[in-house]
Amino acid sequence: MRRLIFATNNKHKVEEVRAALDGLVEVVTLSEAGLQGEIPETADTLEGNALQKAQWVWERTHTDCFADDTGLEVDALDGAPGVYSARYAGEHCSFDDNIDKLLYALEGKENRRARFRTVICLIENGHPTYFEGRVEGQILRERQSNGEGFGYDPVFMPDRFAVSFAEMPLEVKNRISHRGMAVAKLVEYVNGKRENSDE
Ligand code: IMP
Repeated sequence: MRRLIFATNNKHKVEEVRAALDGLVEVVTLSEAGLQGEIPETADTLEGNALQKAQWVWERTHTDCFADDTGLEVDALDGAPGVYSARYAGEHCSFDDNIDKLLYALEGKENRRARFRTVICLIENGHPTYFEGRVEGQILRERQSNGEGFGYDPVFMPDRFAVSFAEMPLEVKNRISHRGMAVAKLVEYVNGKRENSDE
């Protein structure tokens, strides 16, 4: 089976991606590939960071690989926190710190429109291909949570739903989420290539 290194050690991401690529691709994490160290993420776009992370793996292994990067883009904040979503309230801040900062920044604003966007960069033979997933929604005025989810989930309500991401069962969130969509596009691409090579 084809082997791809996924530039992450995040268990939840690996589980989600492995389930989606089951039977198509063997997904190998950074630690399983024997790679250690901090991967730089210094670009100012999601595409740039995904490329930077995938390139870091490619340069060390010359094995086909992919990386993802996600951001929450809020219209009333000109797309912030965007590529800085993880460290919006500062280096080493908590999810709660980020949500507090976001709710404060949106105080008194009527426009609550936002989206999560994920970019996956796949490197094959040194060449990058990008896959994007996005989910549109709005930022709630306060947290709504059943304890599911992470990050900004308690304050993000996707369109066509009456609950936040943090109130949804994980299977439902994964089906409609930014990351779920980007992964689905990667699967479609890998599947298409496999069918072509079978012909
Ligand atoms: P990453 O690129 O997947 O590490 O995501 C960067 C940051 O975006 C995370 O630290 C979270 O704050 C936020 N984020 C990414 N995906 C989600 C999600 O599905 N729900 C809520 N927040 C998310």
